[in-house]
Amino acid sequence: MKTIIEPFRIKSVEPIYFNTKEERQIILEKAFFNLFHIDAKDVLIDLLTDSGTSAMSSNQWAGIMQGDESYAGSPSFFRFEKTVQEITGMPLVIPTHQGRAAEKILFSILGGKGKYFVSNTLFDTTRANIEFTGAQGIDLLCAEGKLPTVPAPFKGNMDTEAFKKFIAEKGASNIPLCIITVTNNSGGGQPVSMQNIKTVSALCKENNIPLFIDACRFAENCWFIKQREKGYAGKTVKEIAHELFSYADGCTMSAKKDAFANIGGFLAMQDEALALQCRNLLIITEGFTTYGGLAGRDLEAIAIGLQEVLDENYLQYRIKSIEYLTKKLIDAGVPVMQPAGGHAVYLDAKEMLPHIPSEQYPAQSLAGALYVEGGIRSVEIGSLMFGKYNQNKNLIPAQMELVRLAIPRRVYTQSHIDYVAEVIIEVYKNRKQLKGLQIIEEAPVLRHFTAKLKPIG
Ligand code: F0G
Repeated sequence: MKTIIEPFRIKSVEPIYFNTKEERQIILEKAFFNLFHIDAKDVLIDLLTDSGTSAMSSNQWAGIMQGDESYAGSPSFFRFEKTVQEITGMPLVIPTHQGRAAEKILFSILGGKGKYFVSNTLFDTTRANIEFTGAQGIDLLCAEGKLPTVPAPFKGNMDTEAFKKFIAEKGASNIPLCIITVTNNSGGGQPVSMQNIKTVSALCKENNIPLFIDACRFAENCWFIKQREKGYAGKTVKEIAHELFSYADGCTMSAKKDAFANIGGFLAMQDEALALQCRNLLIITEGFTTYGGLAGRDLEAIAIGLQEVLDENYLQYRIKSIEYLTKKLIDAGVPVMQPAGGHAVYLDAKEMLPHIPSEQYPAQSLAGALYVEGGIRSVEIGSLMFGKYNQNKNLIPAQMELVRLAIPRRVYTQSHIDYVAEVIIEVYKNRKQLKGLQIIEEAPVLRHFTAKLKPIG
């Protein structure tokens, strides 16, 4: 088997600015040990997110020039609408400026006190938008999904038995929505199987609970289904996506991920009455129904990106490149989430830094060390992001303490990734020197974005 190469050539480049370890140490201190406070120019390899950071294709840039900026009924909207309809099979398509705007609209209509939104795992902004309405977000991830270093093919699956129990306990009428996140971002970018979606869909239908897909990374998930699930090897990713969406009543999507767009998102659904409510709210908060917070040119970029992501040469390269980094780390003994996910590599900080308890945010400490060692920016997905306080103000830690290195699409080359592996392995060798952190300032919701921390001792 020959090397799987990047299925593109580079036409336009951006410089990376180099700084020294000593300079980065000072930058991190000034940023209160929170990488969100660091200027992008001070980062060498930015793996903070794969969201909005993709390199667009020359076709997408050409589409940008063709964007029609009419307030109502722009042809760019109709091209966007048709593409979303073709992929999802959903007739009603509502553009939003990004994923969380779609969530905000949907949950404002369906949410409220005493309601439960059930999921395999909700992403942080998704959960926050649910909780903002007074409702609760409930994660029912399968058991294997909670064991970072134990491999299994579909660790993003929902625990359907737990879902049945939850319905019996709380009553279906208190569950306005079930959301399946594909791939499961907060749980390691792990895929959900078609069988699992089918079972969840049947349970939802029996109980009259609508099912939505959080579709940010649907193509990556469908590629895993093609590779790992019986009966799908001979199908195209487009056919698999079509089947996946056919089990759902709607979807929310951030086009900043699998659609390669720098901004954008949408809601798509089957139900006319719900769509009418969503569109009314859209007009107040985002914009008219045929642009929804986006420029016509963005709609073009999304429409083209949604077609490009279904290219299986691209998906093969994409998933292999994540596997490549994961394997290098495993070979060096670094504890990582296994198997490799779709868009990111996740380091298991709990396993790597047993001397730092959850209350001292081991994954945040590790993320800081990666920055100082090699200028790599990652993100903590652990108790800083998901921890809560009990009534005595003691931390209820997150289930896992992970550092996510999200790989922007079509941006970094293999030598960048080799460098990333070298930096992680260096930090791993010196892991015993890492110190825990304490929070000195935090916001009541989504605190990880703005929190200020300092080292303990
Ligand atoms: N759902 C999932 C699964 C996500 O990963 C994100 C964003 C959203 C919804 C919200 O979309 O950013 O367009 O408003 N995830 C980014 C990340 C921010 O870094 O993983 P958005």
